Amino acid sequence: MFSEATLARFAREVAKYPADQKQSAVMACLSIAQQELGWVSAEAEKAIADVLGMAPVAVREVTTFYNMYNQRPVGQFKLNVCTNLPCQLRNGQQAMDYLCEKLGVEDGGTTADGLFTVQKCECLGACADAPVMLVNDRQMISYMSNDRLDDLVATLKAQSRAKAN
Ligand code: FES
Repeated sequence: MFSEATLARFAREVAKYPADQKQSAVMACLSIAQQELGWVSAEAEKAIADVLGMAPVAVREVTTFYNMYNQRPVGQFKLNVCTNLPCQLRNGQQAMDYLCEKLGVEDGGTTADGLFTVQKCECLGACADAPVMLVNDRQMISYMSNDRLDDLVATLKAQSRAKAN
């Protein structure tokens, strides 16, 4: 189910730990799997469990605990909007509602063109910059306002078009 390159990356992660503790590589292997597949399916969890000598349910517990693992296919851009209290007090919910309305999706939904998935997330550890969101688990967007969200969506669409050409 995985490419040779991905299996080689799994092996490199496993090699970082003593032989009897190779399950310590589970988070890294899940990230690598997601990079190849775009999400972590039950089949991927089972394959990783086999590599690491773990019960599939133990891998599932990790996948479902962390927001960064996609439990279903997502759009090209995953927009995680923080809706915990400090962000809520600075219009985090309003930003979430604005984004959903602008893109025509509900929480957890993906746009018909497959470009954007919008979902709520827990505190991103940047409460001082509230309200915040995270793009594709990497890029933090601070002080979300309607204007900033408009700019972000336009920029990401342009990025996607540039990549396609
Ligand atoms: S509550 Fe949103 S970053 Fe902490």
